[in-house]
Amino acid sequence: MCGIVGYIGNQDVKETILSGLEKLEYRGYDSAGIAILNGNGINIYKDKGRIAHLRNVVDFGVKGTVGIGHTRWATHGKPNKVNSHPHQSSTKRFTLVHNGIIENEDALRLEYLKDTKFESDTDTEVVVQMIQKFVDEGQEVPLAIRYTLTLIEGSYALAILDQENPEVIYVAKNKSPLLIGKGEGFNMVGSDAMAMIHHTNQFYELHDKEFAVITKENITIYNLFGMTINRDYYIGELDATDIEKGTYPHYMLKEIDEQPFVLRRIIANYQNEMGQLSMDENILSAIRQSDRVYIVACGTSYHAGLVGKHLLEKVASKPTEIHVSSEFVYNTPLLSERPFFVFISQSGETADSRAVLVKVKEMGYPTLSITNVKGSTLYRETQYQLLLHAGPEIAVASTKAYTAQIAVLAILACKVAVTCDIDMLKELSIAANVMEALCDNKELYDQLARTYLATTRNCFYIGRHVDYYTCLEAALKLKEISYIQTEGFAAGELKHGTIALIEDNTPVIAIITQEGINLNTRSNIKEVKARGAAVITMSLKRLSSKTDQIIIGDVHEYLAPLVSVIPAQLLSYYAALHRDCDIDKPRNLAKSVTVE
Ligand code: G6P
Repeated sequence: MCGIVGYIGNQDVKETILSGLEKLEYRGYDSAGIAILNGNGINIYKDKGRIAHLRNVVDFGVKGTVGIGHTRWATHGKPNKVNSHPHQSSTKRFTLVHNGIIENEDALRLEYLKDTKFESDTDTEVVVQMIQKFVDEGQEVPLAIRYTLTLIEGSYALAILDQENPEVIYVAKNKSPLLIGKGEGFNMVGSDAMAMIHHTNQFYELHDKEFAVITKENITIYNLFGMTINRDYYIGELDATDIEKGTYPHYMLKEIDEQPFVLRRIIANYQNEMGQLSMDENILSAIRQSDRVYIVACGTSYHAGLVGKHLLEKVASKPTEIHVSSEFVYNTPLLSERPFFVFISQSGETADSRAVLVKVKEMGYPTLSITNVKGSTLYRETQYQLLLHAGPEIAVASTKAYTAQIAVLAILACKVAVTCDIDMLKELSIAANVMEALCDNKELYDQLARTYLATTRNCFYIGRHVDYYTCLEAALKLKEISYIQTEGFAAGELKHGTIALIEDNTPVIAIITQEGINLNTRSNIKEVKARGAAVITMSLKRLSSKTDQIIIGDVHEYLAPLVSVIPAQLLSYYAALHRDCDIDKPRNLAKSVTVE
């Protein structure tokens, strides 16, 4: 969701910024733009559409060694050229890109900008116009920016150019992510390390309500009162080759295939010298001391949390609740006496989850983040952290992060348990092998997707018990990338209403991995078949019947969600492929949702 890249140095900036923006495409966007500053002034190129289109809009004859770029995911105003960033102040002196939402934009317009003529419908333009106004009133530029920031409510990552000072990029951050990259003879700024990793692996974190002045030689960080903040840079662990597609046609397929490897890497990372699974004892004892775990997450991470709840309750006998972040924050349930909060987030940046974190920290409760991104906002701001070790996930549809989340939650549950009844290390290793076999059988999913999903309007996933959780994730996967209207349903609930939607040839995909519900789900399959549904059944080998189309190798029943999601991921992938969809960058979606 909105991406920012900036560069100041000795090289021409266009390619660095455009390719940096391409690395941020995964976040989701609908328009893009860049501003190049040189001795002749500012040159702005922007439009609705992809970076590939922006490349046609940019005048490659124009040179400049300072620039900022942006990918916009529309919040205020339609995705069109005028609303695309960068935005300029009325005099054109200041140019700015923004990620976030200015919540008090209306009040600011009324109080400070009554006479200003606005070009766009964006909240962002308010910021650049206010900077201009305070400079016009006589404030020095850094002060005018800091003063503006003290008046803004909401979230922002900002990069600002001043036409009269081409030696500087000003940046600031509150709630939205922004990193500064340190180079030799140049410096950069980006929404995340991926945008800069081809140029540098040295990064400065910028914390909330901080402001920085970046020249090609120096980076100076201030708080909003103008006091300098001393901070060391850190070395980013991201490997530049991790963010390439290699020979894969899509990141999503690459990331699906990486899952067995990721699972083995998780096993290796959570092992001690004696070869036993191990986790930070401080986390385990904090959870043991709590009387209830509250898992909070969004989207796919929420679905992993559902499985996590099951694991914590079954394996560790720890009462656990799971909540959607955007609901929890405004409709907080009655909490137990000693709650422990777990935030699951691939990106570690999701604004809804962060809003809950801020709230529960104010209440003084212990917090753990399970994220894929070391140094992300949730990682930094929680008391305890566990990493997913999944490597960068670039396709908008989350795959390997989901299974990594379940694997880490399984290890956590096992370690929290006073006695863990299952040999988790062995069972996870078996699951990795089963995953591999599933990934090797792509023709089957290609064929099934072509037959059942290539032209359908809707589809249902049905299952019971933890298979229901997998159905929710499977349905999300299918709808987000193929745009087929899909519902994940508790199989037993169908007869209470949804079965009315079953018509001739409606695809229904049934998942069966739990012994206790095998026969019940098979009865539900008969019910939908009797009403014309075209059923695909996937089942664990030991529960399978001759007519099931997808057979999943046997795993421990607690870990079945780790493997049963893989056929669903592949069905979604091939459905989207046959429907000619933009698989890695589905419409309207963002990978990292940094607004509430
Ligand atoms: C977005 C993504 C989803 C993701 C959700 C939560 O909606 O498109 O794939 O599951 O955000 O993201 P998080 O980074 O917190 O796991």
